Amino acid sequence: MNHTETRYLESKRSLDNRARSLRVRDRLLSALGPDPRIVDLGCGTGTIVSKLLEWGIDAGTYRGIDNDCGVVEFGRAVRPAEFRRAGYTVTEQECGFTVENLSVTYDTGDAMTMLEDMDGIDLLVAQAFADLVPVSTLLSRVESALTPGGLAYLPITFDAGTIFQPDHPADRAVEQAYHAAIDLEPGRDVQAGRHLADACRRRAGDLLAMAGSDWVLRPDGDTYPADEAYFLASILGFVETVLVDSEVAEAEDWIETRREQLAAGELTYVAHQYDLLYQTSQS
Ligand SMILES: C[S@@+](CC[C@H](N)C(=O)[O-])C[C@H]1O[C@@H](n2cnc3c(N)ncnc32)[C@H](O)[C@@H]1O
Repeated sequence: MNHTETRYLESKRSLDNRARSLRVRDRLLSALGPDPRIVDLGCGTGTIVSKLLEWGIDAGTYRGIDNDCGVVEFGRAVRPAEFRRAGYTVTEQECGFTVENLSVTYDTGDAMTMLEDMDGIDLLVAQAFADLVPVSTLLSRVESALTPGGLAYLPITFDAGTIFQPDHPADRAVEQAYHAAIDLEPGRDVQAGRHLADACRRRAGDLLAMAGSDWVLRPDGDTYPADEAYFLASILGFVETVLVDSEVAEAEDWIETRREQLAAGELTYVAHQYDLLYQTSQS
């Protein structure tokens, strides 16, 4: 099991919970029918299931898919006990478990490939995933996998905003280098959020709701909530990897200063993101 990746995903949970738009969530709940068939693309450690339950989606089927077997194993191992502790009735099954009346499985695989063979899905969830894959391919496959009137809920979709505070003279150059590196990764688009919204508008279905869902990670006093200091250290690690190969002046000072500020509980980080809810046409 890759503990670095699982801890990273678990550490962003408190941030996601603060960031997700309640308006988009409420629109989802008002449009979703009973006993939905749900597939979660790039499910990571499967944290969204706890939210689905909290929101009253406690019947139907949920299948999470991730191509990292370590995070899938972690989800399978920890979620049943977590839900029991939260007071839900959990029954272990041969391939997964049932929590209340929701049957849950976590599978390893390429979600984009598996999506091609799916149909009849009521709800596709893709949290912090749509910015990792080609947006138009994702949307085409999502549309053919959903039932008429089916829903795609795409919260925490990154859209070209990375802010660190307090100010540092290299901020603008660092952000540009970081975003350029994301854009160079195959299939990725640093402006995925806005382009996903455009792509939805060009389709036959409806973009039912869209709202900002920025991560705002800031110290509370001189410490960070939950495991968010770890998350922020991971983000600085990603940025550092880019800076090593860049020509950004003051890159070394930037990263050293950010690490010192993190250690002192003085660093704030914001990532600009959108939550989107798309519904396929009814016919
Ligand atoms: C940023 S994480 C989000 C995880 C989860 N949805 C969440 O919000 O906690 C993105 C996840 O997508 C997975 N992933 C990336 N590309 C994938 C693909 N083509 N098929 C399946 N999983 C993929 C990664 O392994 C990672 O766990």
